[in-house]
Amino acid sequence: MAKVTIDGIEIEVEDGTTILQAARKIGGKVVPPAMCYYGPLKGSGGKCRVCLVKVTQGSTRDPRPMPKLVASCITQVQDGMVVENTTNEEVLNARKGIVEMLLINHPLDCPVCDQAGECSLQDLSYEHGVSAQRYEEERRSFNKVDLGPYIQLHMTRCILCYRCVYTADQITEKRVHGVLGRGDAAEIGTYIENVIDNDFSGNVIDVCPVGALTDKTWRFKNRVWFTKPLDAHRDCPTCSGKVTLWTRGEEVLRVTARKDQYNEVEEFICNTCRFDKKEVSDWNIEGPRHIDRGSVISANHYELPVVNVPIVPNLPTSTKKNLPQE
Ligand code: SF4
Ligand code: FES
Repeated sequence: MAKVTIDGIEIEVEDGTTILQAARKIGGKVVPPAMCYYGPLKGSGGKCRVCLVKVTQGSTRDPRPMPKLVASCITQVQDGMVVENTTNEEVLNARKGIVEMLLINHPLDCPVCDQAGECSLQDLSYEHGVSAQRYEEERRSFNKVDLGPYIQLHMTRCILCYRCVYTADQITEKRVHGVLGRGDAAEIGTYIENVIDNDFSGNVIDVCPVGALTDKTWRFKNRVWFTKPLDAHRDCPTCSGKVTLWTRGEEVLRVTARKDQYNEVEEFICNTCRFDKKEVSDWNIEGPRHIDRGSVISANHYELPVVNVPIVPNLPTSTKKNLPQE
């Protein structure tokens, strides 16, 4: 076991735990953001650098600070390690710079993007971004690509986190897409025009932190904050059948896997559940999905998230429901 202190809070974790995982055990504001790390995917992390933290004491045996900021998602804790995240100005400045860099090529098309309201980059820019861009070179742009009947690729929005590549590698039988080219020329592609069609291929949509991979059956149907998420399940021979239905009235607008507060799926779901079961009668409804991510996605739902709920007594329920999220 190793004792680590993050932003002044001490926690004991198993050897081999990363700083990010240790911070998630503490929870709340000490948790660094993550754009490429994804708990359920082996080997993910180390690409985007938004999770950088300062290690001010390496360990009890060697208390020297680490000379550079480190990626918390791939750096393991040592006994006696002291880490600064939100309490360190250098970290916050670096994160601002990384957001600016991620936005160099990413278009600010949130008003027409299906991921708006549940986009990790949108949240990150809101929390850490700067309003001005210093980049003066020509930006990369790509045409939209159809990856089969269900998935659309907007490469211009991609931040090259590799999550979709790991997902296809680890949960589908055959990966047909990957990162082609390197450096400025790197892009997600299928090399020879190909379709991603596999029972579990739809999961690449769920893991994409931005709107680069979108569900064609849901595109432009609604804004996510106007929909009502419901937990539902069905007997499915291929996956657990446990999903979230995003509904408006009686209509099921889309089906996704259930995601936790870090935007990570609890269980991957199959394409039949995701794309073919769009009737309420296909599902056993469990009740409203509790969203505890502090994002636009949690607005207008049946209930407010338990975290950051402002306590405003003596207001009618309808007014309380519409309170802005912190
Ligand atoms: S398409 Fe999405 S999931 Fe895939 S690398 Fe780009 S941003 Fe990541
Ligand atoms: S989340 Fe750690 S480098 Fe991307």
